[in-house]
Amino acid sequence: MSVASPLPHDAARLHVTGTARYIDDIPVPRGCLHLAFGLSTIARGRITAMDLAAVRAAPGVVAVLTAEDLPFANDVSPSAHDEPLLATGTVHYVGQPIFCVIATSHLAARKAARLGKIAYDEAPPILTFDEALAANSRFEEGPRIYQKGDPAAAIASAAHVVEGRLELGGQEHFYLEGQAALALPQEGGDMLVMSSTQHPTEIQHKVAEAIGVPMHGVRVETRRMGGGFGGKESQGNALAVACAVAARLTAKPCKMRYDRDDDMVITGKRHDFRIDYRAGFDAEGRIAGVEFVHYTRCGWAMDLSLPVADRAMLHADNAYLLENARIESHRLKTNTQSATAYRGFGGPQGMVGIERVMDHVAHALGLDGAEVRRRNYYAEMSEGGPSAPPTAPPSPPERISEEKKHEDLASRGAVGETTQAAPAAPAGAQTTPYGMEVSDFILHGLTRKLLETSDYAARRAAIDAWNAGNPILKRGIAFSPVKFGISFTLTHLNQAGALVHVYQDGSVHLNHGGTEMGQGLFQKVAQVAAARFGIPLEMVKITATDTGKVPNTSATAASSGSDLNGMAVKAACDTIRDRMAVHLAQEHQCAPEDVRFEGGRVLVGGESMSFAEAAQRAYVARISLSATGFYKTPNVAWDRIKGQGRPFFYFAYGAAVTEVAVDTLTGENRILRADVLHDAGASLNPALDIGQVEGGYVQGAGWLTTEELVWDGKGRLRTHAPSTYKIPACSDRPEVFNVALWDGANREETIYRSKAVGEPPFMLGISAWLALGQAVAACGPHYPALNAPATAEEVWRAIGRARHGL
Ligand code: MTE
Ligand code: MOS
Repeated sequence: MSVASPLPHDAARLHVTGTARYIDDIPVPRGCLHLAFGLSTIARGRITAMDLAAVRAAPGVVAVLTAEDLPFANDVSPSAHDEPLLATGTVHYVGQPIFCVIATSHLAARKAARLGKIAYDEAPPILTFDEALAANSRFEEGPRIYQKGDPAAAIASAAHVVEGRLELGGQEHFYLEGQAALALPQEGGDMLVMSSTQHPTEIQHKVAEAIGVPMHGVRVETRRMGGGFGGKESQGNALAVACAVAARLTAKPCKMRYDRDDDMVITGKRHDFRIDYRAGFDAEGRIAGVEFVHYTRCGWAMDLSLPVADRAMLHADNAYLLENARIESHRLKTNTQSATAYRGFGGPQGMVGIERVMDHVAHALGLDGAEVRRRNYYAEMSEGGPSAPPTAPPSPPERISEEKKHEDLASRGAVGETTQAAPAAPAGAQTTPYGMEVSDFILHGLTRKLLETSDYAARRAAIDAWNAGNPILKRGIAFSPVKFGISFTLTHLNQAGALVHVYQDGSVHLNHGGTEMGQGLFQKVAQVAAARFGIPLEMVKITATDTGKVPNTSATAASSGSDLNGMAVKAACDTIRDRMAVHLAQEHQCAPEDVRFEGGRVLVGGESMSFAEAAQRAYVARISLSATGFYKTPNVAWDRIKGQGRPFFYFAYGAAVTEVAVDTLTGENRILRADVLHDAGASLNPALDIGQVEGGYVQGAGWLTTEELVWDGKGRLRTHAPSTYKIPACSDRPEVFNVALWDGANREETIYRSKAVGEPPFMLGISAWLALGQAVAACGPHYPALNAPATAEEVWRAIGRARHGL
């Protein structure tokens, strides 16, 4: 089969019939115990007394653990060892686990967990940006700064200047399956852990430390998550570690899942940001210099906050060539949930900053936003330097061909060979504020096509006319582009492994280090395996991620799942295929390159046999039909302290046009239409990729519109259930939703020239927020400075600012 097919998700049927198995569906052995945490009810203070007698006496309770009862490491942090599983004397946010109840049922554990009597010596919590700044409460000593050129001078000598402040809220992941883990004690003190995690190796590592065994004593299995969205990169550690410790102590299987309210109260969310900006520009709206100051609330523990804040800085340019730019980033420590990874990993926040600047510049000059953006774009490069934007889309994607297969056969082994240090950008190259050359820019052509297919100019004119005649209902339309860097910025994470077996009957067992969270990674990678062997997909068995099969894996994150694991699987399959080819070529006195694997058959020296027969022959000839595969991303290197290097292998691009309507009396609003054109390279599976683009857009629009997190003055999260926290419902998706993939291959040598697609479309949702800003701006002469989320209340307030000024 050809690799790229719009096949459904491998588990689609199971998902919609309710038969896909999640952690809580796994049949457990008799005597399984259930866990629940007792939580801090204050945001900051010292525990002075703990009376757990009522907890211990509650029906069904088997044991209650506090920090003192933990046999080994009390640490679930993915980074700085600053996150105990159970509080040790001090508490740092409302919802921090203090004790752990082990009971005979989920309900019994939860009920008992509420009976703890804990006395605190309370301290005033640090909750807001201002409180954190006043207390100098931070994770890194000073701010981190990336700079290119001399922005202060450029702004001083610019014809026009805008400046302002943007408040940008966080976001709850709201994965449909909450956090969950199950630990099954094995003989000799070993532990098997089933975890709803994006990062099985981290779970293995943390569990091993917590139960005092080497990593080989712990095996972690993850078949699928019911959504992760970054919220299961590190936030599953606590449950898995608690279950393993409890299982070790009781010698019983132990399971834990957070109830939705607990999940929202305990776990970290997207980082909220405050962004101050100042930009100088000319009469055409071209930016001469720009300065950003990012403030971000990281919560109480470090978790992944430093790389998240870094990635925000790395996306402060988005699609725009900024010759003079300064980005300053403050990572603030607050007494709230420890903010964590969330689709885009800081990138969306950085991008919203520059999109606000573009919007403000266009408003100040009375220019069209799409036009101002295009004028600031990076140049599109072709052979021999910058070129005018092409008039036609690039040539069709390079699909794998039989010739290409043979080329790969010859060069196998070189896959993943890499130069150690990434070369510096050549002199005169267009570079990002962090010194990386942008050589794969495609947004000129993509933008032209999208503006055409969405009929942007005519609709804009119609909306302007509508707004001129309608005082109550206002409309807005906005365009925004996305350029998103693909790779982990921590270079060593850009590696992956795979394990492939071919059985005697020609069926294939596929395993790799990536995890499935609904994004379709397993399906895509299975398509790669089927294509390498030239067999139907049904012959490839997708299996659960398992630390006992593929070790030392990176989190499935940074959108790199298919890039990394696809390549590792390809390498493993090719190893086996080559062994089979060499054997069959010997039998037929021909060259291995002349052995063909296609259509479920193997063609050699005029003979055609089934793949199963070829496997059988290889087996009888004592040829190994099992192989590992490994891949590391070439050509990436990054110095996060200097803010210089080539953190990304390539960029993924996309753009969206969104139209909204606003009721100016109430601020209520809705998305009427969205048109999206997204770059997935030569898509491995266009159906899955369009699903990612649609879901990403809606999730991004939800972040910037209805999803509002509210903490009260005591640090209690007041929005901890769907009753108060509004994620987009089906009825909130755009009424007209035109989504297409840009037809162009990745210029870099990725798996079949595809591009990562998990996170980049999330940022297409920015256009919905910008469109709301346009509708609001139609209400008055002033720049409305719409904050996010643009809830009905915020839209209503911004209408007041548009009419009357700040
Ligand atoms: N899509 C679904 N359906 N569910 C998810 O949890 N997570 C997103 C994205 N798309 C997610 C999703 C995030 S945060 C990332 S990093 C990528 O998928 C991870 O998978 P990939 O690397 O295979 O794209
Ligand atoms: Mo995604 S935020 O990188 O898990």
